[in-house]
Amino acid sequence: MTDNTNPIEPCQRAGGKVILLGEHAVVYGHSALVLGGRNGARAWARLAPESCLRLGEKHHCISSSLPSELSPALSAFRALLHVLNAPSVRVEAQLDIPAGMGLGASAALAVAIARAVVVCRGEGAKEPERAKNASSGEILAAANAWENVFHGNASGVDTAAALQAGCLWFNREEGATRLAVPQMPHAVVAVADRAASTRVMVENVARQRTRHPLQVGALFDRIGQLAQSAKLWSLQGNWQQVGALMSQNHLSLKSLGVSTDKLDAACRVAMGAGAYGAKLTGAGGGGCVVALCEASRGPEVVEAWRHSGYQVLQFA
Ligand code: MEV
Repeated sequence: MTDNTNPIEPCQRAGGKVILLGEHAVVYGHSALVLGGRNGARAWARLAPESCLRLGEKHHCISSSLPSELSPALSAFRALLHVLNAPSVRVEAQLDIPAGMGLGASAALAVAIARAVVVCRGEGAKEPERAKNASSGEILAAANAWENVFHGNASGVDTAAALQAGCLWFNREEGATRLAVPQMPHAVVAVADRAASTRVMVENVARQRTRHPLQVGALFDRIGQLAQSAKLWSLQGNWQQVGALMSQNHLSLKSLGVSTDKLDAACRVAMGAGAYGAKLTGAGGGGCVVALCEASRGPEVVEAWRHSGYQVLQFA
């Protein structure tokens, strides 16, 4: 932030995610098993004469002369502010994870921005404490309004995981529940392919579903069942079994047409290095794979990926 008319509020954070099982099927009501991370995005906000969002080097300002349809980021920002009933604010936001890679970057941004705006809206409000204290439901609603501009038919799994870290069980009807797993799994992530658009992938799957309702419905049912089994194993801390189910989930996603040769190859490399299981994470069409492994095997999986030319990301 360059002008200093208002004090800068402390930075607000939100985390990225990896989906262990259940993407795409979760859009149609099945459940997903997800790891919510701590790192993802940071945001700062201050009161200002007009609302502006600075994302990296790009500025998106809401002024009457600029139709919001010109920029999805601006439309998303406007939708988020509207849900929060926010005053005019300048927001600066930064991503700490790559976008378009299946790691929930857009949702992390939305939650961090919503949190920053809520802190800031307390200033000058008649009831500052009330204005500052948003319920998690309000933050979620604002972040989902943002996500729906970018993703059309978002299930809400990414925003739910951006809101809280840990091992989460999510479906559209009940939202997210944190699972009391005995210990967290050792998850490693590799960038396996170029970035892809969640909206495009979700729309592709929707088209497939219209064309082949029985086959696609059966794949969703299968993914849903794999996720249900994985939930039970995760509650016992049996990540080896969860890993095996993840690999099966990857095959179903491949049948759904959302994997790529590079994603498949990255899964094979992880399995060759002794991972319990590996799959794409997020919408697919590119992006990352996630593998679960015994902690002592982590360096071998990482080394195998690096040796094959993949960038490895720390999931935290
Ligand atoms: C994206 O991270 C997960 C998808 O299932 C879309 C969604 O649930 O909104 C592909």
